[in-house]
Amino acid sequence: MDVDFLVIGSGIAGLSFSLKVAGLGSVCVVTKKEEVDSATNLAQGGIAAVLDGSDSFEEHVRDTLEAGSGLCDEEVVRMVVGGGPERIGELIRLGVDFVRRKDGSLDLGKEGGHSRRRVAHSLDLTGREIERALVESVGSCRGVKVFENHMCADLIMSEGGRGRKCVGASVVGENGELRDIYAKNTVLCTGGVGKVYLYTSNPDIATGDGIAVAHRVGAEISDMEFVQFHPTCLYHPKAKNFLISEAVRGEGAILVNEAKERFMVKYEPNRMELATRDKVARAIDKEMKTSGADCVYLDISHKDSFYIRERFPNIFTKCLSFGIDITKDPIPVVPAAHYLCGGVRTDMCGRTTVENLFALGETACTGLHGGNRLASNSLLEAIVYAENAFQYCSKNQNWRAGGKLRSILDTVVKKEDIDEEILINHNWDVIRRTMWNYVGIVRKTSRLMVAKQRIADVRQEIDDILQKYNITTNMLELRNISLVASLIIEAALNRKESVGLHYILDSQETI
Ligand code: SIN
Repeated sequence: MDVDFLVIGSGIAGLSFSLKVAGLGSVCVVTKKEEVDSATNLAQGGIAAVLDGSDSFEEHVRDTLEAGSGLCDEEVVRMVVGGGPERIGELIRLGVDFVRRKDGSLDLGKEGGHSRRRVAHSLDLTGREIERALVESVGSCRGVKVFENHMCADLIMSEGGRGRKCVGASVVGENGELRDIYAKNTVLCTGGVGKVYLYTSNPDIATGDGIAVAHRVGAEISDMEFVQFHPTCLYHPKAKNFLISEAVRGEGAILVNEAKERFMVKYEPNRMELATRDKVARAIDKEMKTSGADCVYLDISHKDSFYIRERFPNIFTKCLSFGIDITKDPIPVVPAAHYLCGGVRTDMCGRTTVENLFALGETACTGLHGGNRLASNSLLEAIVYAENAFQYCSKNQNWRAGGKLRSILDTVVKKEDIDEEILINHNWDVIRRTMWNYVGIVRKTSRLMVAKQRIADVRQEIDDILQKYNITTNMLELRNISLVASLIIEAALNRKESVGLHYILDSQETI
């Protein structure tokens, strides 16, 4: 297959970009599961932007810079914040139903680190509403062809003509067949890496595929040490990946420990529960470690019960299904891996350091988030960069060279199907537990070194498995998470000081 745009991933970044470039040429979207299976779909809180006369770009910029602990690229922050209102207008025109006040203006939520109410939302199902509108629009757009249950195995590179370029991707289809899709522009929008950790708010697709394939062809990857742990994921044996949105704290919920003490007063006396996520997650981690408790509690039961049910219908229903009535009971919560601030380094147009290869959304590292992302800035970044990349493509026709540099996958002689899946599952478990226990919210150099060795051993075993057996998507994901894990550990070892989300005990012993 030969297309103008190959888009890998079907969250807000991939689908927004696809709709925009459909007028420029043929678009093929490759997505690992179903089109809606993305982190976007699970996003609860909303999109931050300056949408109210009492707010200002300057304040949104300042909040973003402060959350980012001095590591944001200010030019990027100004560009993204400045683009917010227009892009949100575009989503509304596409049919996204944001909640409005009686006077017709957008109802704006509040979240940690924001000095103002500025989060446009669709109650606690904002991501699902955005994804619905995008999937519907893509469905009626003839220029975009979507391949579900297809996974990008590796990028195809060309050495011909004017140098090394990305010319498409090798993709594994539903029945395990490998096919090449050639493209003038390849766009990585595969979301984040949450599955690298034992506990995560992310969907199963979040195995860092875009970062892994980009790294294998030499694209610059940066800021991998900055993994954001969301402070409040539901703690229940049967709840998988269920987030209790920061908007719940925004509307007044408080955090208490087992002794029913409102502990944030010790750590962040000013902002309390609405401090930035790095600080709230670390405080919870400290409380749990000190008391030996399995979780802390988020309590919004002091608010009117009708209001709670109206404002957080999804969280209310989900918790009730586990026997927790949030209008009466405190919600057991724990931090979990939520968002990667680092990723494939891009310029302001979403271009990576490899020619003809773009990265958008969580896969990318644009410089917006620095050391810690401000809540609800991620959907904003995705739509602003989808527009920038579209603008770039509409002005620059990419040239595609012939020829192909084969990936390790198609040079190996395949022998047999793997007979014992336990080989794969065991290594998934080793990686996820090692990352959770040794490369988590609070780190130590000695533990990072242990994790480095352990992941290196696992990676060697995975290479052996790939050499010996026919590939499966499970194996490819394992190969990707093991690479991403090693990139996180390497970056964490290189960053000697505690800053933003990277907190290393050797250099600083507070909290
Ligand atoms: C949330 O609703 O708490 C998540 C929003 C975000 O990650 O920005």
